Amino acid sequence: MTDTEASALDPACPPASLWYVADIARHVRPGRERVQTVFGRTLRLRRDAQGQVMDAGEDPLAVRESEGLVWAYSPGPDGAQPASGPPVFNGPGAKVRFVEEALLPGPYDDAVYGLLDPAHGPYVHASPLWRSSRTLREKAKAYVPSPLGFTMQAHEPKNSAAYKLIGGGVQVEIGFQLPALRSEWITNRSNRVLGLTTLTPVDAQTTCIRQIFYWESPLLSLISPFVRPVTRNFLQQDVHIMTLRQRAAPFRRREMLIRDADQLFIWYRRMKAEWAQANAESRAFENPVQAATLRWRT
Ligand SMILES: [Fe+2]
Repeated sequence: MTDTEASALDPACPPASLWYVADIARHVRPGRERVQTVFGRTLRLRRDAQGQVMDAGEDPLAVRESEGLVWAYSPGPDGAQPASGPPVFNGPGAKVRFVEEALLPGPYDDAVYGLLDPAHGPYVHASPLWRSSRTLREKAKAYVPSPLGFTMQAHEPKNSAAYKLIGGGVQVEIGFQLPALRSEWITNRSNRVLGLTTLTPVDAQTTCIRQIFYWESPLLSLISPFVRPVTRNFLQQDVHIMTLRQRAAPFRRREMLIRDADQLFIWYRRMKAEWAQANAESRAFENPVQAATLRWRT
């Protein structure tokens, strides 16, 4: 591969034959209907007599409740039903402790780009509590493939005050898997927190981003009210950058992807293509990601 990899801009085409987060399970209450739009389709979520979540729409999608979330399956071109259930993250307590969501204007892959771009954090989310672009330094991150994605191996976070909330000796491990599920395990001797960022296509031009947290420590439940405005602000920064990106889109004829900084997005594109091809050929997915150490300044 060359130093840069140019690719024609893809239309919004989230990968199919995968589970996406459609709602928070506790928001689907017995005797009530919750309407959600996913993949441009209307989901009518209800609980049946056994309390199971179902889609009561005319052309229902497969839905499943797991770890406090409602997942909807995006059928492939052949309309095949899911062969297995939604992904399991083993979030501490298996209960969603915190969720904040926002609607991002723009196609799915643009939202995925924001989730994977290493420069996104310090520039889009610069904040005194979180981190600022003034703390730029060269970083080397080790990645290994996982069954449906890749994992950035555990490391000690250096430039974020927010991690101090859970105490010292913190290790962070970040995973990404198709369709676009980013899991961030924050652990130290006494606490384990799972932060899950999910992207779900609402329609071809809108993507729902959710920031979800799982934890067990009662101490973290106390600080939860303070996390909300920070997270809300964080997601609004994502909405803002996506709005700017959409405004610039007509002027972007070709997209330029740069190694190593865009390697994660390049992997995403390759995994997505391989996933579609493996499904079309009814064979197992062969992860195109290879273990690598990537370097950039953020
Ligand atoms: Fe972001």
